Amino acid sequence: MENESKSNANVAIIDLDIQDIEGIGPTTAKKLKDAGIISVMDLAVASAEELSEGINATKETAASFIISAQKLLRETNVLDKEFVTADDALQKRRSMLRCSTGSYALDDLLLGGIETQALTEFYGEFGSGKSQVCHTLCVTAKQPVEAGGLNSSVIYIDTEGTFRPERVEQIARSRGFEPTEILKSIAVCKVYNSSHLELIVKDLGKYIDDFKAKLVVIDSIISLHRAEFAGRGTLADRQQRLNGMLHKLIRLAEIYNIAIVITNQVQSSPDTFFGDPTKATGGNVLGHASTYRIYLRKSGENRIAKMMDSPYHPYSDTRFTVTEKGADDIEEQTPKKGSKRSTVATTASKKKGGEEEEEEEEEDQQE
Ligand code: GTP
Ligand code: MG
Repeated sequence: MENESKSNANVAIIDLDIQDIEGIGPTTAKKLKDAGIISVMDLAVASAEELSEGINATKETAASFIISAQKLLRETNVLDKEFVTADDALQKRRSMLRCSTGSYALDDLLLGGIETQALTEFYGEFGSGKSQVCHTLCVTAKQPVEAGGLNSSVIYIDTEGTFRPERVEQIARSRGFEPTEILKSIAVCKVYNSSHLELIVKDLGKYIDDFKAKLVVIDSIISLHRAEFAGRGTLADRQQRLNGMLHKLIRLAEIYNIAIVITNQVQSSPDTFFGDPTKATGGNVLGHASTYRIYLRKSGENRIAKMMDSPYHPYSDTRFTVTEKGADDIEEQTPKKGSKRSTVATTASKKKGGEEEEEEEEEDQQE
C-alpha cells in the first residue's frame, strides 16, 4: 500500500506503520501489539524464536515477518542496505557521536569518549570504578554535543541496586551543572532477575524512542545471569540467553545511533588460580559482542583503564581517578597532545591552561 510512496524517500522510523509491512494487516498487527511489538523497528530487531512464541505462529511465519520488516526499513533507507560501499560506511561513521566520560585521560583512551553505534564494556573487580563511570556518563550525556555530551536523556538499567541519584546530583553540582534537569533526564529501571533483564532488553527499542535516549547503561550485564545459572549444566543455556541479549543490544546501538555501555566483572573464582585473573566473565559470548572492552583496575587512590579489545583503538592504557566529580583526571596528569577535548571533562590540567608538550609515560609499578 503505502510502500510505494515511501520506498524512495528517506523517511524517519516514526513515519512507518507496522501495517506498511507486506503481509501484515490489522489482525496480525493486533497480535504483534499484544506481544509488545508496536513499531516496524521492534519487529525488525525481534528474534524469530521469541516472536513465534509471542504471536503463537510458526517460526517460519515469524521469520518472514521479521524479514519483511527489515526489507521495508531497507527500502526506506532506515536500515543500511545489506552491502554498503566503504564510502557509505564512512558516512554512517560520521553520524557517530561521542560522549565524554568526565575524564580527559579516559576520553583520550577512547579517542574522544564513548561512541554511539557501539557497545562499550567496562570490566573490572569490585570498586574499580565501573559504576562511577556510569554515573558520570549520566551527567555528561545531557550536555550539548559541542561540549562533549549527547544532548540526550539516559536509560539506566540497574541490576545490582547500586544506582544513586544523590551521586548523580553531586557529580552534576561539582561540575557546575544544575542537577534538576539532569535527574529528570535519567530513566532508571531496577532489574531483579535475569528474565526481567531479558524482557527489558527485548522492549528497549520502545523505551529508547519514548525517552529519546542516546545512551543506555546496563550496570551490570551479567551478574544476574551469573548468579542464577550457577551450575555447569546450565552454562550453555546461560550463554545462549546472554548471546541473544547482546546481539539485540548491538543492533539497537547501530540502528538507533545510540551508545550502549555495559559493565562486567572479572573472574575471581578459585578455579582460575592458574588462569588470568584479569579476564572478564561471560566468556566468548561477551568477548565477541562488545565493540570496545576496557579493563579497569585500582591502583592506590587511582584507577588504570586499559583498552583490551577494539577494532581500531591502540591497545594502550591510562590513569584516571574518582572524585566528587565522578570519573575525573588525576590532578598532576598532563593531557595527551592533540587529543580531542570536551568541555564536560573538567580537570586540573585544563585549569592550568591547556596542553603540554610532554606526555606522562608512567608505567604501572603496582603489578
Ligand atoms: P562493583 O559494582 O562492586 O563491582 O564495583 P564498581 O567497579 O562498580 O565500583 P564503583 O564504581 O562503585 O567504585 C566504588 C569506588 O568509587 C569507591 O571505593 C570509592 O573509591 C569511589 N567513590 C564512590 N563514590 C565516591 C564519592 O562520592 N567520592 C569519591 N571521591 N569517590 C567515590
Ligand atoms: Mg558497580
